[in-house]
Amino acid sequence: MSIRMKALTWVSFLTLLSTTAFAAIDTIGINWGTMTSHPLPPPIVVKLLSANSISKVKLFDADEWTVSALAGAPIQVMLAIPNDQLRHIGSKSSHAKEWVKQNVTGNLARGVDVHLVAVGNEPFLKSYNGSFVDDTFPALRNIQSALDDAGIGDKIKATVPMNADVYSSPSDDPVPSAGDFRSDINGLMKDIVRFLRDNDAPFLVNIYPFISLYQSSSFPVEFAFFDGGAPALIDGHLQYTNVFDANYDTLVWALRKAGVPDMPIIVGEVGWPTDGDRNANTAMAKRFYDGFLRKMAKGIGTPLRPGKMEVYLFGLVDEDMKSVLPGNFERHWGIFTYDGRPKFVLDLDGDGRDELPAAAAGVQYLPAQWCVFQIAERVNYACSNADCTPLSFGSSCAGMGLKGNLSYAFNIYFQTMDQDVRACDFDGMAKITGQNASHGGCLFPVQIISGGGWKPSVAGMRAAAAMAAVALAAMVPF
Ligand SMILES: *[C@@H]1O[C@H](CO)[C@@H](O)[C@H](O)[C@H]1NC(C)=O
Ligand SMILES: *[C@@H]1O[C@H](CO)[C@@H](O)[C@H](O)[C@H]1NC(C)=O
Ligand SMILES: *[C@@H]1O[C@H](CO)[C@@H](O)[C@H](O)[C@H]1NC(C)=O
Ligand SMILES: *[C@@H]1O[C@H](CO)[C@@H](O)[C@H](O)[C@H]1NC(C)=O
Repeated sequence: MSIRMKALTWVSFLTLLSTTAFAAIDTIGINWGTMTSHPLPPPIVVKLLSANSISKVKLFDADEWTVSALAGAPIQVMLAIPNDQLRHIGSKSSHAKEWVKQNVTGNLARGVDVHLVAVGNEPFLKSYNGSFVDDTFPALRNIQSALDDAGIGDKIKATVPMNADVYSSPSDDPVPSAGDFRSDINGLMKDIVRFLRDNDAPFLVNIYPFISLYQSSSFPVEFAFFDGGAPALIDGHLQYTNVFDANYDTLVWALRKAGVPDMPIIVGEVGWPTDGDRNANTAMAKRFYDGFLRKMAKGIGTPLRPGKMEVYLFGLVDEDMKSVLPGNFERHWGIFTYDGRPKFVLDLDGDGRDELPAAAAGVQYLPAQWCVFQIAERVNYACSNADCTPLSFGSSCAGMGLKGNLSYAFNIYFQTMDQDVRACDFDGMAKITGQNASHGGCLFPVQIISGGGWKPSVAGMRAAAAMAAVALAAMVPF
């Protein structure tokens, strides 16, 4: 910046600032997920957000430990109601009133800038088999009424974060203009979007180009990114050169067909993982974010909705306790590592320059020691209680061989268990060492001192010991 600055007058410098530098700052938010064994202490996270000029966060609950750290911070907050509470909230208006009183009004009073309430999280996801289909709309209605009754409904809106699988185009006509809401929930989606319109609330959608690529080996890789190279998808007089735009505009068409053509859309989650799959690495994540953030900074929008867009990146840090049912990449969505270190350079503030984001300050670590394999006899893994996803094919720790695999598994379990000596035994197959066990590009982490998260229990350790005692001749897939 300094060299460019000298060449500019103050007036043109200020113009430059207002048209480019701040363009993205006021629209980029981030998802702060906390499904980790050792969450970074929330005050450290709030400083990390501020240090990187991130002024909006989306949470997945209204957890007191997390939310209290946001009091007084200049950060807009989206609170959320987890899916398993939807039935309770939807069943009685008094339940919604209590939720709003404790989690919205109460937090506003102590200076948390609550902005939106997310009712559920992708409740209509196909893989939930309809479990939350009946609970979501009643919960949404009750929460919005409770916000209205509390006198804050004009400022704070309730909405439902939807997975992009709630709409699609037919496979024989895969263009955005053929898009509509999924047939099994078409009527319900229309009722919901009309309710959102009547309440001036936005539609919240999660869009994942990575998943498009992951799910189909015939998906054109270039179409997942923003730098061209893929044959354009032609839809009438419009052309699509990336799947993000095509997906977003499929939603715009579905909203048009539901009679709410101007409904504001917020992208609730978008990002790229860095490990756990052959397409999940820092190079591809950087390529995705470079194109995406440039597009956001310029306010290009999509062919149907040109202009600025409100988006929340997914996500802040890696979460080692997330379910790996969708794939091993699930634990590696962070722009920052588990301990708050940036993974790659990117232009987070939209000023046109790639920079390494600021790292979390004040993180405290457990002692620098590792748990490693010491004799080659029987094989077992600690991986059912810790995160071994980097070992899988195409990931950062793949190809280390059997000894490396075992050491990785033993160490990650030992760290997850707060380095308890009982968690580095494995029937005598493991030992503690002060020598850094990291292996080429494969990091053997040392855990942080947290104060929250999933607490190791002696019962858990006994279970691990019992697991180790079961001699397995072959690898256990995870
Ligand atoms: C407020 O949110 C927390 C965290 O999500 C939840 O456990 C609690 O039950 C909520 N309060 C009420 C009164 O529902
Ligand atoms: C949905 O159904 C499938 C197949 O019947 C089953 O394997 C899966 O566990 C179900 N998921 C849920 C969340 O109920
Ligand atoms: C290490 O673990 C991975 C993941 O389960 C597996 O694919 C690989 O074959 C293992 N390597 C050896 C040498 O056992
Ligand atoms: C261990 O080594 C790795 C790779 O060289 C490094 O990134 C990491 O910071 C080291 N850990 C400690 C605690 O020194």
